[in-house]
Amino acid sequence: MKNTAHPHGLNSIAFLVLILFFSCEAKPPPGMTDPGELTYYGFVSKKANCARCHGRDGSGSYDGPDIRGSIEKFGRDRVRDFILNGKDADEDDGMPALRDELSDEQVEKVITFIARWPAPDSSKIRKRKNKHDRRRESP
Ligand code: HEC
Repeated sequence: MKNTAHPHGLNSIAFLVLILFFSCEAKPPPGMTDPGELTYYGFVSKKANCARCHGRDGSGSYDGPDIRGSIEKFGRDRVRDFILNGKDADEDDGMPALRDELSDEQVEKVITFIARWPAPDSSKIRKRKNKHDRRRESP
């Protein structure tokens, strides 16, 4: 998006994103009581809002890869390590460490929550969503 009328276009966008971010802070929908689910959707910690980067159904977004099937792929221990310590956290497009955001128990529960999503049938994937998926598919 080009905004030549606005010398501080980027700042305004950052501001908007912030407003959106905070206005999204809502009470969980009635019936959402599973601690792992509450964590995944950002009701425990805004920073550890997995859905923000990995999509509501785990299928990914511009900010994070598809994580369906990642427990089978990496195992709980490595996934726990990604959540606590980040994954490529020092890179711009990496996942930040979330150890300060969640308790050990919340981490275990969110791992159990995402384990419900099996790896998608690759024949159904029409196109890669973003750079993360691209990298993951390279040998
Ligand atoms: C700010 C965005 C962001 C948030 C928030 C986030 N992640 Fe990630 N996550 C990423 C990115 C980006 C990667 C890929 C990093 C890489 O490989 O360079 C990733 C990788 C992963 C992976 C490994 C998948 C793979 O194939 O690389 C798992 C599993 C995962 N995240 C789970 C979670 C969980 C669970 C949460 C919430 C507790 C969470 N993430 C929060 C951005 C995020």
